[in-house]
Amino acid sequence: MLLARIREATAAASSLKALESGIVEAISERLPHYNWTGFYWLDPGDAETLVLGAFAGEPTPHVRIPVTQGICGSAAALGETVVVDDVHADPRYLSCSIKTKSEIVVPIRAYGKVVGEIDIDSHTPAAFTEIDRGFLEEAARIVGAFIEEQSGESI
Ligand code: SME
Repeated sequence: MLLARIREATAAASSLKALESGIVEAISERLPHYNWTGFYWLDPGDAETLVLGAFAGEPTPHVRIPVTQGICGSAAALGETVVVDDVHADPRYLSCSIKTKSEIVVPIRAYGKVVGEIDIDSHTPAAFTEIDRGFLEEAARIVGAFIEEQSGESI
């Protein structure tokens, strides 16, 4: 099961960079309706801006996204998962690929605060169900716990 693989990758990860790459790879290989999978992180020097982390899929022009823009910004500002069944009907949407039809963005929290998010785009309309939401929210919790553990070690 994919969550078990993510937990194993987390236990073995030496850094957040290694972990996010491992998760992106594991997810994009196994879930064919996840056509773009990536992480965004709040810039430590500018908490109002998301910065692109590891990703799999076409390169995106959106390497920095203000929290006031996009579905990504919205999920970070709200601190809630955002599911968009039809991206072209959502005025917040920032286009990454003309093939994208639906999107899910799940915030990652550490010490109760949003620090980043997992963003998935699909070429299939309304591709993301409650199963995807549950899976990605658990993956986000695992990553958040890893960040807390790592920062705890460096204190
Ligand atoms: N679609 C996102 C931008 C990021 S790309 O999908 C990779 C948004 O509307 O925020």
